[in-house]
Amino acid sequence: MLASSQDPCWLKANLQACPQAYRTRARVRPCPKHTRKLARPVLAQGHAASMLVGPLAAYTQKNHARARPCRKHARRVEAINERETETLGDGEAQKVHQMAGVEVTNIPLLTPYKTGKLQLSHRVVLAPLTRQRSYNNIPQPHAILYYSQRTTKGGLLISEATGVSDTAQGYPDTPGIWTKEQVEAWKPIVDAVHAKGGIFFCQIWHVGRVSSSDFQPNGQVPISSTDKSLKPSVGWGNGIDAVEFTPPRKLKIDEIPQIVNDFRIAARNAIKAGFDGVEIHGAHGYLLEQFMKDEVNDRTDEYGVTLQNRCRFPLEIVEATVNEIGAEKVGIRLSPFASYMQAGDSNPEALGLFMAQSLNKYEILYCHMVEPRMKTVGEKSETPHSLLPMRKAFNGTFIVAGGYDREDGNKAIGNNFTDLVAYGRLFLANPDLIKRFELDAPLNKYNRETFYIPDPVVGYTDYPFLESTI
Ligand SMILES: Cc1cc2nc3c(=O)[nH]c(=O)nc-3n(C[C@H](O)[C@H](O)[C@H](O)COP(=O)(O)O)c2cc1C
Repeated sequence: MLASSQDPCWLKANLQACPQAYRTRARVRPCPKHTRKLARPVLAQGHAASMLVGPLAAYTQKNHARARPCRKHARRVEAINERETETLGDGEAQKVHQMAGVEVTNIPLLTPYKTGKLQLSHRVVLAPLTRQRSYNNIPQPHAILYYSQRTTKGGLLISEATGVSDTAQGYPDTPGIWTKEQVEAWKPIVDAVHAKGGIFFCQIWHVGRVSSSDFQPNGQVPISSTDKSLKPSVGWGNGIDAVEFTPPRKLKIDEIPQIVNDFRIAARNAIKAGFDGVEIHGAHGYLLEQFMKDEVNDRTDEYGVTLQNRCRFPLEIVEATVNEIGAEKVGIRLSPFASYMQAGDSNPEALGLFMAQSLNKYEILYCHMVEPRMKTVGEKSETPHSLLPMRKAFNGTFIVAGGYDREDGNKAIGNNFTDLVAYGRLFLANPDLIKRFELDAPLNKYNRETFYIPDPVVGYTDYPFLESTI
């Protein structure tokens, strides 16, 4: 049954009622009718936003005074509010351990760490996770709850990949940070993380050829280092279909500074939005990797052929970003061993090492590397490779990600293999992951089916907190 348009839950009702809502032309996105509705500001603010407590409640009350939760979500609101207010502070968590006879110091992941001016209270980082719920590329109020659920005092969060320009997009409903409206929309989300004592970096992103004309301004073709198209048969499991990629256009050498500049401005905008810094997305087959990796880069100019030349573009972005916002606010994510989106490299060790060494010159805050075992985004596989040489070569903070659980995360920190560990799917499904790690409590299982649906609650802010699972 459809709820009335005054009811904040009309969105869920409508999405369920619309057979095309979750899949239009093989891509996960609402149908055109609901896309228009989704863009309305009243959208689902009621139940999602009013779940907040404390300073966030004031924000939501001010901005969404008319929104009311439906009965079902009102119950969820109460439950979450109870859980939120019961969340332990740092000192209290320690008491729990003492009571349970567990030493906090036995949990390397939960030891403090200082990097630059940032004092982290533990080593568990929220990995960047695309959620495809930022309708029309505008961050939405429901992200306030999503990120604040995953915030701990002194914890580091990295945002979902966020487009640097109108040519940067390749998926439905991913956020951007190139317009004033987007910057304003990020502000309350960042404020919410800060209100709980979290540290928030924005992952800035350009997809390059992982796109289609549908996502490009004036239907133009996507840009890349190359004009080679992605071959069919590849997907990332998030509703994008190979057939939808449009063969890209190779950037002319004199167009490259403009893209570098887009990253610089995006970094400036991220700071304006209140973020503590940016993570440059140099992983997973997107634009920076389309330059770095020799499976893709077929240029013969100063951005191609040699390893140094292939790394020129990402390093120019690092330099421009550092000059704009300061090195202590800049991190980068790299996945030299991965081959997502047909972006493999014939010598990933050399690539990873060269980047780690070259980054030292810019004294950036951190280098975040995806484990070689993550050949695909979702599956671990056996590998003879290791990130250790890159960890040793890089002077700043090192973050690893990819397939970590509590045990091997503790081992990695304990053995000084890394400084911090980023968790993706486990953090997505366990908003209170740090508390669960503290107590060695069971974890919620993630549901792949809801990773990329546009619902502002389901698969997003409705994963249960610990109190309701034990
Ligand atoms: C739903 C989903 C969205 C993701 N989005 C991004 C993203 O926006 N940026 C990025 O660099 N990696 C992204 N990744 C990769 C994760 O950050 C992480 O590296 C990957 O999930 C492996 O870590 P895990 O085993 O802890 O999940 C995504 C992964 C998933 C499952």
